[in-house]
Amino acid sequence: KRRVLSGVQPTGRLHLGNYLGAIQQWARYQYDFDCWFCVVDMHAITVPHDPRHLADETLSTAAMYLACGIDPSHCHIFVQSQVPAHAELAWMLNCITPMGWLEKMTQYKDKKQRLGDDAPVYLGLFAYPVLMAADILLYRAECVPVGEDQRQHLELARDIARSFNYTFCRKRKPHKLPSVFREPEALILPEGAGVSRVMSLTDGTSKMSKSAASDVSRINLLDDADTIRNKIRRCKTDAERELRFDDPARPECNNLLHIYRAITGNRPKADIERELAELNPSGWAGFKERLAEALVSFLSPIQQRYHEVRQDALYLEQILAQGQQAANAVASETLRAAKEAMGFALPS
Ligand code: TYM
Repeated sequence: KRRVLSGVQPTGRLHLGNYLGAIQQWARYQYDFDCWFCVVDMHAITVPHDPRHLADETLSTAAMYLACGIDPSHCHIFVQSQVPAHAELAWMLNCITPMGWLEKMTQYKDKKQRLGDDAPVYLGLFAYPVLMAADILLYRAECVPVGEDQRQHLELARDIARSFNYTFCRKRKPHKLPSVFREPEALILPEGAGVSRVMSLTDGTSKMSKSAASDVSRINLLDDADTIRNKIRRCKTDAERELRFDDPARPECNNLLHIYRAITGNRPKADIERELAELNPSGWAGFKERLAEALVSFLSPIQQRYHEVRQDALYLEQILAQGQQAANAVASETLRAAKEAMGFALPS
C-alpha cells in the first residue's frame, strides 16, 4: 500500500477550506492507502499562541478528523509533539537547508507581512517548512494530500530529501548508502474535482484562513446554522445578476459557486448554472439562501459527530495513544537511519 501523510495545525477552529482542500480528500484515501494523519501542534507555536488553549485545540482538531470521517480503525491519528523524532529530524534538516530556500516561501513572506514591521519574526516561523519536511520524510510518505497553498512547501520537502540523500547516501565514501528519504508528492485536487483553494467570503482574491482577523471571512466547521446564514448573507458578491463559473473578473462569484458545487456532490458546472438560473428569487438573493441551507445541511452531521466524539474523552485518548505508539515506531527507525547517514555515534 502507498503511504499517505498529512496534518492540520491546531490553531483556532478548522474551516471549510481545511475540509474541502484537505480532510475530505484524506477520507477518500483511507481504505486504499496506508494513512497517517497528524495534528501538527509544534507548527501551531510558530506564531504567538495561548498555552491555556493549545492542548484543547489539539484534541479538538483530532476529534474533528474523526467527525469528518477519518476512521481510526484504518488510519493512524497522532499528535506531532508526542513523537520526539519530528523535532530531532527537523534540527538535522535545518543544518542542511540553505536560508535562501526558506526566504522564497510565500507563506512565510505573507505571515511576516501580516505580523507588521515592528513585530519580531521568530526563527521557528522561518524554519516552519523544515519541520513540515521532517513530518513527511520521517514516514517516507509517498503522497501528501493538501490544499493548493501547501504546494511550495511540498516542493521544498522534495528538495531537502534529494539533497540529504545525495550528500549523505550517494556521495558517501567509501561505501554508498541506500537513500534514507523518499521524495513525497503533493496530492492536490485538480480543477474540476473539487476546490483546492477556498477563498475568503469577504475577498475572493485571498484564501480562507484561520488567521484572518475577521471571522465573517470564513465558515468554521463548527459554526451554527444562524452564524452560517448570517455570514453568507453578508458575504461579498458583485453587481452582476447572472451566476457563472470561472470568470476571472468575478472572484467572489467563482468562489461561492465552487463551494456550492463541492458541497452538493460535484455535479457538472453547466447543471449548476442551469439550476441557479431557474431560482426564485433569482440572482444573488436566491443563491445565497440556497448556499446557506446547503452549508447547514452539509455541516450538521459533521458537527453532530464532533460533539459525540468530544463527549468520550477516553476514546479519543486511546486513539491518540495508539497513534503515538505506531508513529514512534516508524519515525524512530527513519531517524536512526538518518543519524547513521549523517555520521552520529549511535547507541548500540
Ligand atoms: P494548515 O493547518 O494551514 O491547513 C491544513 C490543510 O488545509 C488546507 N487549507 C486549504 N485548502 C483549500 N483552501 C483553503 N483556503 C485552505 N486553507 C488551508 C491546507 O493546504 C492544508 O492541507 N503546513 C501545514 C500543516 C502541516 C502539514 C505537515 C501538512 C505541517 N506538517 C505535513 C501536510 C504534511 C499547514 O499549515 O496547514
